[in-house]
Parts: sequence; C-alpha cells; structure tokens
Amino acid sequence: MLHNMDNTPSSPGKSKMEKRTRWQTSLQKLTFWSILSMGVIYFVFFRAPSSFTSDTSRRSLRTYGYGGAAWEKKIRSSAAVTSKNGVSVLVTGAAGFVGSHVSIALKNRGDGALGLDNFNDYYDPSLKRGRQALLAKQGVFIVEGDINDVSLLKKLFEVVPFTHVMHLAAQAGVRYAMENPGSYVHSNIAGFVNLLEVCKSVEPQPAIVWASSSSVYGLNTKVPFSEKDRTDQPASLYAATKKAGEEIAHTYNHIYGLSLTGLRFFTVYGPWGRPDMAYFFFTKDILKGNTIPIFEGANHGTVARDFTYIDDIVKGCLGALDTAEKSTGSGGKKRAPAQLRVFNLGNTSPVPVTDLVSILERLLKVKAKRNVMRMPRNGDVQFTHANISYAKREFGYKPTTNLETGLKNFVRWYLNYYSAGKKADQ
Ligand SMILES: NC(=O)c1ccc[n+]([C@@H]2O[C@H](COP(=O)([O-])OP(=O)(O)OC[C@H]3O[C@@H](n4cnc5c(N)ncnc54)[C@H](O)[C@@H]3O)[C@@H](O)[C@H]2O)c1
Repeated sequence: MLHNMDNTPSSPGKSKMEKRTRWQTSLQKLTFWSILSMGVIYFVFFRAPSSFTSDTSRRSLRTYGYGGAAWEKKIRSSAAVTSKNGVSVLVTGAAGFVGSHVSIALKNRGDGALGLDNFNDYYDPSLKRGRQALLAKQGVFIVEGDINDVSLLKKLFEVVPFTHVMHLAAQAGVRYAMENPGSYVHSNIAGFVNLLEVCKSVEPQPAIVWASSSSVYGLNTKVPFSEKDRTDQPASLYAATKKAGEEIAHTYNHIYGLSLTGLRFFTVYGPWGRPDMAYFFFTKDILKGNTIPIFEGANHGTVARDFTYIDDIVKGCLGALDTAEKSTGSGGKKRAPAQLRVFNLGNTSPVPVTDLVSILERLLKVKAKRNVMRMPRNGDVQFTHANISYAKREFGYKPTTNLETGLKNFVRWYLNYYSAGKKADQ
C-alpha cells in the first residue's frame, strides 16, 4: 500500500519536492552507512582488543624506515665475514633471547651476522633494546622490520648475498596463543612462507636453519622424544604452527631445492632470557614475595622439563649451520635433491619443576611461596625429554651445562640487570 502511494505523483511540483526529499534521504543514509563502516574498520583494525586481527594487523601495517647509503653501509659491515671460511648469516629474531646469543657467537668466530627483528611487545621490548645495544657493541646491526615485509627482505638480499639464514623470529609462548592466535599465524606461518618465498627466488639461494620446537611432540607419551616419533597431536596453537612450519619446510625443499634444517629446542633458559618463561617469572615472583603456581599432572603426576642452557643451544645452532648443505635451486626451480633435516636440541635430563624452584630458592636465598595446582589445559604438556642422538651423530652436539650451573648464571645476570634500574614487572 505504502509502496503504491509513493509511486503515484499527484502534481509535478510535489514530485520535484519528493525527489529532493528522496535524494536527501539517500544522502543521509549514505552518510550514516559510511560513518558506520568507517567506525567498524577503525574498531576492527585499530581498537579491537586481543582479537585475531588486532595485533596481527597493527604489526603488519606498521612501517619501518629503511634504505639509504648509511643504512646499507651498516648492513654490509655487520654481515662482513672476517674469518677464512666464514659465512654470512641473516639472523631473524636477533633481538630475541636465542637470536641475540646466536648472533654474538657468529660474530665472535668471524662470520658475518645481520639481525632482523620487529621488536614487538609480546614481552617487555626494553629487554630487546638491551640485547640490541649489546649486539651493537659486538658489531651486529639489527634491522627493524617484519619478516612479512617482502620488499625489505629482497632489499637485504640485494645488499648482501647471504649464504645462510638463521630463522629464529617467531611468536613464541604456548599460553598466549589462546589470547592472540592471529600473532602466531602472522609470524610463524605467513612470515615463514614469506621468508621462504624470498629465499627460493634469490641467487644464490641460502641454506636455512630455523627454530621449530619440542612442543610439536604434543600429547606424545613415548619418552625420550625422538625425531621419528609422531608429531600429529599438538596441544597448543603454537605447537600446531611449528608443526605446520615443518611441513612448509618440506614443501619448499621438495619444490624449490631449499636446504632446510629445523631445530626442535627444548625449554631454553639462561641470561637475557624470556620473561614469559617459568624460570624467569618464578625468579621475579620469589624475590617479590609473590606466590608462585606449581603445576602437577593427573594423580599428582610430576611436571618436568628438559631444561637446556642457552650456550648448549647456541652450539647446536652453529653445528646445524656448519653442516647445512647448499640449496640446489636456481631461477626459482629445484635443480637437484636438497638437504632436509629436523633435530632435537635438548639436554636429555628432565628436571621436575619443583626442583627448579628449590634451586632458585637456594640461589636467591629466599623461600618461595608455592601454590601447587592442577595443570590447566592451556597448551602445556606434562613432560618433555629429548633424545639427542641424531644431532650428536651429525655435528657432535653434546650439552654440558646442568640446571644448577645454568641457573646460577641466569640469577647472576638477572640480579645485575634489574639492580641496574630496569624494572622486572613489565
Ligand atoms: N626459548 C625456548 O625455550 C624455545 C623453545 C622452543 C622453540 N623456540 C623457538 O626459538 C625461536 C627463538 O625463541 P626465543 O626464545 O628467542 O623467543 P623471543 O621471543 O625472545 O625471540 C623471537 C624474536 O622474534 C621477533 N619477531 C617475532 N615475530 C616477528 C616478525 N614477524 N618479524 C620480525 N621479527 C619477529 C621478536 O620480536 C623476538 O625478538 C622461536 O622461533 C621460538 O619459537 C624457543
């Protein structure tokens, strides 16, 4: 009825007025919908807290200034090889815990090392800046950028034809995956694919050594974990993205002839470590007098970890790098079969988390307030234990630091670093 009335003009004048009114209404509607859409876009991309898009897009939209003669000079100098058989390595995640240690070790033995890191705020970025300052003193420059930035990666390879990539940039942490799943997809999957895309097309292709994780063993109960064991039951999205990385590595090796070595690290700890890891925040909380949660499995089962000291992990990284064969592709095509490997890098002596706390109590001379509770189902597994015979056979990997000694070094660093005015509560 209404519809019919609107379509029956009674006089030409009225029709003109109605047309204008209709036009005004349309304009109002358009304005309304435009404002609404812009609001939604603003909310989704810039305001939405802890959603799939928030961190991912904020990080990927962020642009970093780069380029220029002075910038290129710093890159060349950082990547310059100073020893006879040295290699030039692009280290992604160089402002991170493992990346900073590996970069220094490479530089110290005369290899070239250039860092790349986006300095994200998953944990206190001032710690990353501290590591950056340390690396700068050793002549290692860290380019500030994201592994998803293809033009930046291409530019870096234009400036330096890296022989190797040590790929350690990732969204780490098991529990955070429930809060911000998008950041894992962004860095561990999209970022890894981007990096491989660039590596496959540069001439010569570099050999790539990258960090997988012991978490790929997931719900596996057969111990110690061997590289031959099943890894198709991840207990967290983090683990699933690392497992996906191993499959992606297989594809790029198979199609493009990239030499790829994955390293499954087992709970790495030590000076300049990660504040989101138990040994680190237990130390902070014990010193502050806060209660610390200690998890136990079903039927009061022990939760234990194969804690591996950072220096042993660094030796494993260098061993993998030194035995990595050249990639075999060129012009974006595979020319011959290429090397594809996965190694466990652990300590092979799991320690109950309660023992870790007792060692910290002794070193800090403070009694911990323990709150023993059932392990929540948020991605953690009850037990990890590495079989390291493959890495031993291939490059003589042999961890030498026990937890007591390693924690002593960590605590010494921690007290020194945070007594120098840095806050440990961020
Ligand atoms: N520390 C461990 O116990 C452990 C265990 C198993 C596996 N790993 C793996 O080892 C590697 C290094 O771990 P870590 O403990 O040094 O972690 P970390 O968080 O200290 O270092 C990772 C670094 O990568 C950077 N990064 C993240 N996403 C990036 C991106 N998209 N582009 C550029 N830079 C990015 C971060 O800013 C950070 O500095 C990671 O791949 C991690 O998953 C670590």
